[in-house]
Amino acid sequence: METTPNQPRTILSAMQPSGGMTLGNYLGAMKNWAIMSQTDNCYYAVADLHALTVRQNPAELRRNIRNLAAMILACGVNPERATLFIQSQVPEHSVLAWLLTCHTYMGELSRMTQFKDKSAKQENINAGLFTYPSLMAADILLYNANGVPVGADQKQHVELARDIAIRFNNAYGETFAVPEPFIPKYGARIMSLQDPTKKMSKSDENPNAYISMTDDNDTVARKIKRAVTDSDGVIEFDPEHRPGVSNLLTIYAACKGQSAVDAAAEFAGQGYGQLKQAVTDAVQSALAPVQAEYARLLADKEHLNALLRSGAEKASAAGRRTLRKVYRKLGLDM
Ligand code: TYM
Repeated sequence: METTPNQPRTILSAMQPSGGMTLGNYLGAMKNWAIMSQTDNCYYAVADLHALTVRQNPAELRRNIRNLAAMILACGVNPERATLFIQSQVPEHSVLAWLLTCHTYMGELSRMTQFKDKSAKQENINAGLFTYPSLMAADILLYNANGVPVGADQKQHVELARDIAIRFNNAYGETFAVPEPFIPKYGARIMSLQDPTKKMSKSDENPNAYISMTDDNDTVARKIKRAVTDSDGVIEFDPEHRPGVSNLLTIYAACKGQSAVDAAAEFAGQGYGQLKQAVTDAVQSALAPVQAEYARLLADKEHLNALLRSGAEKASAAGRRTLRKVYRKLGLDM
């Protein structure tokens, strides 16, 4: 599906409710979600079905789902334009996922780097962990999304969704829009504060490795103060040779909406102490309005629940239209 610049695009993205949102999620994806929700037709999901690929505590999962929905809105997603919903409340996702799984090769799924990483780390290597990308393809293709705002680690999955869409269209005639990933220039891969060769992740066992969107000012200051830097005291944007300092520059730049190279020039000749103080200020200023709005939204659970209910109804109606078409093409009746 082609779009002209005047025509709003259809956007889909999703985030797993596995613990709180991190600064990495925010800078890599959520900032773009918020920007796009001002002009485009956006579908944003809390990807709770994806979270089940890891064993969850049910009471905690229920809480995390609501909290993530509130956090998405607190980050500036426009509820007037965007359809925000909980993935498991729109069963069309699971149905399309099966139909697409039957059009996805074992070899393709085996090549996914995230599957390789996760299956090396966790003991519970369930089949869902392996077929996870076809559920993600279903999330995207169900709404004929043109664009998918994500961080760099999801690029391979979006490319697989493209391949599946093209394969299906070739076999059965034009059915799905072929989606494109939207990845920010700076912030697409925020690294761990403790090991800047690893991605910042909420599942890190060391809480000093990540900044949570709900961290208070003192916690932010402490974590950035302890962040691993390089040994020679030089401030330069060079992710390969100076991963620690480059990560701090990226965080600073992404919070301020500028380039990391420009940020490096701003700190030329200064020490790591000054850089860390500036990064702390930038992160605290980015988090303050989000945290205030988050508290406000959580205090009005009824409003949030109503919004999620109507989001699921809207998403389900749109998903059903696509599913009906897919059924027909495959020789199935609804
Ligand atoms: P998830 O929940 O792991 O992450 C949500 C979003 O945050 C981005 N992200 C990061 N960006 C920069 N630096 C980091 N350290 C960092 N960590 C995470 C991710 O790239 C992602 O955009 N499978 C997806 C959820 C999903 C989805 C979808 C995404 C389910 N269905 C359909 C897009 C379209 C995931 O696990 O993201």
